This record gives sequence, C-alpha cells and structure tokens, in this order.
Amino acid sequence: MTASPGTGLATPLEALRLSLHVLGAAVWVGGQITLGALVPAARELGDGATRALARAFARVQWPAYALVVVTGFWNVSAVGAGQPTSWKVVLAIKIAVVALAGVAAFLHGRARTKSGLAAWGAVTALSSVAALVMGVFLAGP
Ligand code: HEM
Repeated sequence: MTASPGTGLATPLEALRLSLHVLGAAVWVGGQITLGALVPAARELGDGATRALARAFARVQWPAYALVVVTGFWNVSAVGAGQPTSWKVVLAIKIAVVALAGVAAFLHGRARTKSGLAAWGAVTALSSVAALVMGVFLAGP
C-alpha cells in the first residue's frame, strides 16, 4: 500500500477501495455466521419464519457478493501489477474459491432437502472464510 506523503496513512482512494471491499466481506462472511446462529431461534417462531428470514437475508447477501467481486477486481487493478508468482497463485485460487462460494450459495438457496441445504451451506461458509483468509495474505504486511 502506498501512503499519503508524510502521513503513514493510506490515500483516500485506497481507503475507499479497501473499506468497500472489507465492508462487503464483513456482510458476506459475517452475515452467514450470524444467520447460522439465528436459525434455531427463528425455528421456534413457527413455520415460515426461517424461510422469511432466509429471503430477507438473500436481499442483503447478493449485493454484498457483488460488492466484493467488483472491489476485488478494483484491488487487482490497483495492486496486482508486478506482484510475484506466489501472490498471483494465491489470487487465482482466491478467485476460484469466491466463484465456488457464489455457486454454493445459489444452490443452497434452491435446495429443498435437509442434506442439500446443509451440504451447500457448509460449502458456502467454508469457501467464504477461505476467501477472507486469502485476502488477508494478499494484503500483505
Ligand atoms: C467472498 C469474497 C471475498 C472476501 C471475503 C474477501 C476478503 C478480503 C479481505 C478480508 C482482504 C484483506 C483486506 C485488508 O486487510 O486490507 C482482501 C484483500 C484483497 N482481495 Fe478480497 N475478498 C473477496 C473477493 C475478492 C475477489 C473476487 C478478488 C479478485 C477479483 C479479491 C481480491 C483481493 C485483493 C487483490 C486483495 C488485496 C488488496 C490490497 O492489498 O490492497 N477479493 N479480500
């Protein structure tokens, strides 16, 4: 990251780029963990409560996914040039893992069996956390 001259701080544009990316990641990943914790309580509210919660959740999650993807490519154009092969390999794996998270979330939303919901939910959560960790590695020291 290049600092604003004489301040040791990110430039305003870098702060905007990374803040939007981290905000999207916080909603996408943190939202899944929070929703997972709320589902048992929602079930106690009766039939249909979990479904309504899931529908409302999807309205927030997909814009957050779009935000991380768009700002992710913004990150690549801002910091990707001249990076070593190791960085590029982690980036390529991260992009594949993010795509997997998106497909798994879509299939989770369409699953109608308990095992389908559980399996695609688990793939979504694990691949999303993996993408977050790889992002931290890409950001570097
Ligand atoms: C589920 C989706 C994603 C999550 C959870 C995620 C999460 C993160 C996090 C937490 C960081 C570290 C930010 C920091 O420490 O300042 C990061 C950085 C980064 N991400 Fe993502 N990200 C996602 C998608 C993407 C995509 C799709 C791309 C590329 C197309 C991408 C490219 C990058 C790059 C290049 C950095 C380093 C930015 C820099 O050093 O300025 N990310 N990501």
